[in-house]
Amino acid sequence: MALTAVKGFNDILSDESLRWQHIEQTARRVFELNGFGEIRVPVMEKTELFCRSIGDATDIVEKEMYTFTDKGGNSVTLRPEGTAGVMRALIEHKLYAQDPVAKLYYMGPMFRYERPQKGRYRQFHQIGAEITGVNDPLADAQVLNMLTSFFREIGLSEPTLQINSLGCPECRPAYRTALRSCLEERIGGLCEDCKRRFATNPLRILDCKVPGCIEKSAGAPSVLEHLCSSCNDHFSSVKRYLDLSATPYSINSRMVRGLDYYTRTTFEMVTGLLGSQSAVAAGGRYDGLISQLGGPSIPGIGFAIGVERIALLLGNQQFTSSPDLFIATMGAGERDIAFSLMDGLLKSGLRVEMDYEGKSLKSQMRRADKLKARYSVVIGENEVATGSATFKRMADGLQSDAALTVAGIHSLIMKLEQ
Ligand code: HAM
Repeated sequence: MALTAVKGFNDILSDESLRWQHIEQTARRVFELNGFGEIRVPVMEKTELFCRSIGDATDIVEKEMYTFTDKGGNSVTLRPEGTAGVMRALIEHKLYAQDPVAKLYYMGPMFRYERPQKGRYRQFHQIGAEITGVNDPLADAQVLNMLTSFFREIGLSEPTLQINSLGCPECRPAYRTALRSCLEERIGGLCEDCKRRFATNPLRILDCKVPGCIEKSAGAPSVLEHLCSSCNDHFSSVKRYLDLSATPYSINSRMVRGLDYYTRTTFEMVTGLLGSQSAVAAGGRYDGLISQLGGPSIPGIGFAIGVERIALLLGNQQFTSSPDLFIATMGAGERDIAFSLMDGLLKSGLRVEMDYEGKSLKSQMRRADKLKARYSVVIGENEVATGSATFKRMADGLQSDAALTVAGIHSLIMKLEQ
């Protein structure tokens, strides 16, 4: 039987990789501008880390984790998200002792055993950013502005920012009680998952996509009407800062996140172009998480962008890496010279390709076209004898002569690019 990749795990081939590099480079540029530094954490952690952070009663921990026992008898899990591992590292290395405010970003694969479909995979990639050590709503606004800038810089204007507040351990119990008492008499009409959620995690019922559950939870009380005064003040300040920086957003009081660590501000960047996989980035504040994991009481806020979903939205936009110059040769005698020239030009920073196999001139020129080379040159006996050749600008066929030296070719291209 032919060997294929594991279901839900994808290869990223060259063309797609260019799009991914564009996404990653844009994120690095925007995040570093905002003072974030990269952290790289392992893809595998002790299972307990995710149970204690994401929460035992979440879909991720209940059904989606790649958990196994290693040869030493330890239960380990391929990370389903990045925040828990980054916070584990922050505590383990006492990063807060060096600087009370940590601004960290990360990128890499995450693993969830979900039903694969367009925009939803079992190995997927996130680019995430986290600020710890700041309670002030200014941090919420900076994170949201940075996320908005990323979308602007990448050239996607369609996803829109939705925000909500999930309150804190002071006010959420009362909201949970209000929600339960509203849903109690409608429980028979809820799906099996939501019947279970009613006891374990009733807020998640608001997020269920099953039509019966949407109908039964319509008119449920709003979390925003149950915030305590400090959560209410916090949320008002976040909105005020967003208004101040002219960041567009809407409020979605039914947005509940699939991870239990959130407090106060939560948000999603939502698109209408990817069917049911509408969130292209999401995050929120997690003021209790670090202490819950055994660290000091330090607040945090962050988000993660779904790279596959961004790549889908970018569609067929070309992010080409075409050569600056294609060197064709008339015969075997010129290949040594072409090779040394290519070597010198590559060392000088020009992107150069040549024929490797002694193909016909016609097929070499076809390859120059296929690679979308910007310039081409044909080297024959005559060019070797005179030390100069005619270079062709492929876009418009313009021809110019230059010396067959690294300096000669550089100055010709510079002249023609002006
Ligand atoms: P999340 O909402 O679970 O949050 O995931 C963030 C983003 O990852 C989603 O909006 C989506 O774009 C992408 N994503 C999630 N699951 C899949 C999948 N199966 N296939 C493809 N893309 C997917 C978190 O993971 C939090 N750690 C975010 C965060 C950071 N909160 C605070 N800091």
